[in-house]
Amino acid sequence: MCGIVGYTGNKACLPILLESLRALEYRGYDSAGISLVEKDGRAICTLKSVGGIDLLERKISDAKLDTGICGIGHTRWATHGAPSDSNAHPHTAESLTLVHNGIIENHAELETLLLREGYNFYSSTDTERAAKLIDLLYKRTKDPLFTLFEAQKMLVGSYAFGIIFKDRPTSVYAMRKNSPLVVATDESGSYLASDVTAILPYTDSFAVLDEGIVAELCEDGAKFYSSPFCLCEQSFQKVSWSAEQAQKGGFEHFMLKEINEEPSVISATLSHHLDSTLPGLKNIERLISGLSHIYIVACGTAMHAGLVGKYYIERIAKIPVSVEIASEFRYADSPLHKGSLAIFISQSGETADTLAALRRAKELGISTLAIVNVFASSVAREADEVLYTQAGPEISVASTKAYSAQCSLLALLAVKLGITNFSLSTQKAEEYCKRLSDELASSISSVLQKSEEIAKISSKLLTAEHLFYIGRGVDYYLALEASLKLKEISYIHSEAYPAGELKHGTISLISKGTQVIGILTDPSLAPKTLLSLHEVLSRGARLTLICTERILRENSIPDANIITVPDGDRILRPISTACALQLLAYHTAAKKGLDVDKPRNLAKSVTVE
Ligand code: AGP
Repeated sequence: MCGIVGYTGNKACLPILLESLRALEYRGYDSAGISLVEKDGRAICTLKSVGGIDLLERKISDAKLDTGICGIGHTRWATHGAPSDSNAHPHTAESLTLVHNGIIENHAELETLLLREGYNFYSSTDTERAAKLIDLLYKRTKDPLFTLFEAQKMLVGSYAFGIIFKDRPTSVYAMRKNSPLVVATDESGSYLASDVTAILPYTDSFAVLDEGIVAELCEDGAKFYSSPFCLCEQSFQKVSWSAEQAQKGGFEHFMLKEINEEPSVISATLSHHLDSTLPGLKNIERLISGLSHIYIVACGTAMHAGLVGKYYIERIAKIPVSVEIASEFRYADSPLHKGSLAIFISQSGETADTLAALRRAKELGISTLAIVNVFASSVAREADEVLYTQAGPEISVASTKAYSAQCSLLALLAVKLGITNFSLSTQKAEEYCKRLSDELASSISSVLQKSEEIAKISSKLLTAEHLFYIGRGVDYYLALEASLKLKEISYIHSEAYPAGELKHGTISLISKGTQVIGILTDPSLAPKTLLSLHEVLSRGARLTLICTERILRENSIPDANIITVPDGDRILRPISTACALQLLAYHTAAKKGLDVDKPRNLAKSVTVE
């Protein structure tokens, strides 16, 4: 999704803007641009280009700009208006240039107002309408603060802005609503970014700009205003991530690097929340006692982690769980169970639908708990309590290590819920925790060692146009995630089905050569899933099986490509099996020569509705 960067100070500005834009490439974009105040401080030069940052850099080099003193930059992921040079940001008006993330919902009304004032438009973006509204207000007030607080009253929708007024060429102004923005400073000047990874090379201290605040970034630091007359404070925090963590570190793709990090991020997540032999999680005790129902709300892969969480919580803590898609939950009219807890899972903590669903739950008076990877992100800040996964920066659009970290934290939470609600003895709880901390990482490491073997099996999927994943129980939940992973990076159409449901319709799609991937990790359900697999085999399907060593030993297995995963017990198996399925999707996409880390049309963090 779109990315914002900005800098003002005594270091060369242009290289900072470009390096920061590159750090945001992973979010997904289709055009990029910058506005730079050159060293003489007289003119602001705006250059933009559809396509990658390389093309923008070529334009910058042709324009022979100096390195500048102040500037803003943007990567755009098209929402209003196709990807094009004119729709790319920054957008300019007579008195200013600005970059914007989000969607201005009342752009049509603003356009009518601005047409009456004599404005013309050169792009089809909502952002240009916002730029011209701010220009109109600035011409009236001649003051950036009055202008921006007035603009806040008139803009409807979501926004994060970085703005340079032409007659104040050494300051970057910023404000936001429902879209992230962070401010950082060092001895050289001030930085602005929509994502903390953009500023990691320069500083490890940042402030998340509060909604409604206007920031003025200057060479000698940042000032924050809660009204045109009132300076205020914003709290700065240290980020524990390093710039190196956001590098490929010798792997061909970030996705492969991140899958390989799973043993360490799971260990880090578990040890962060374990208090000796039991889950600590003291801060959530008041939220979780006496619960009769739990909602888990999230999008995409995070929602699929929620399904694994449902499996853990229902089996270990015996509390019923409904897993809800955030974009549905936010508008659902259905009554909620009184006294329930809603858990919101998000890697980024900035997913617009998840944030809106969280706000709805709060409005309805439901207690809220966030499971989030990005420190101080919006979901983390707005929930009643937060538990952080310790996955480090996840750069690949396809989420892998964040999912595994979420699942492992949900396993720990299930144990905590079990103890708190008296459905689990302390001894049993200690056994679960011991198994998680002693065996999970090594079980995943043993799957990682099969990467080459999985790569060979993936060769058989390359020509498939359609593919089915099937499983029962938690294996069906894993199938949903495996199917999403394959679709998003390999562009092979696939569907996940509960094995027993195939014969109620979908089996009509199975014909000679259809690829079917069966997931069998639960020994009690394996014989039933095998029945469904025989049904597809007898209709000509080609079979790949992901199954545990024990199931392989104890059942008569049909002719298939087989990837075995460790037996483990039920708390370990889903997470190590997920790793094998991630590798299968990865190798399929990599062998097809696709841009694995930046699949088409996708953004890392979906901050618009
Ligand atoms: C995962 O591979 C996806 N690209 C996507 O489904 C993602 O999980 C979803 O958008 C939710 O993101 P979040 O975890 O940052 O909220």
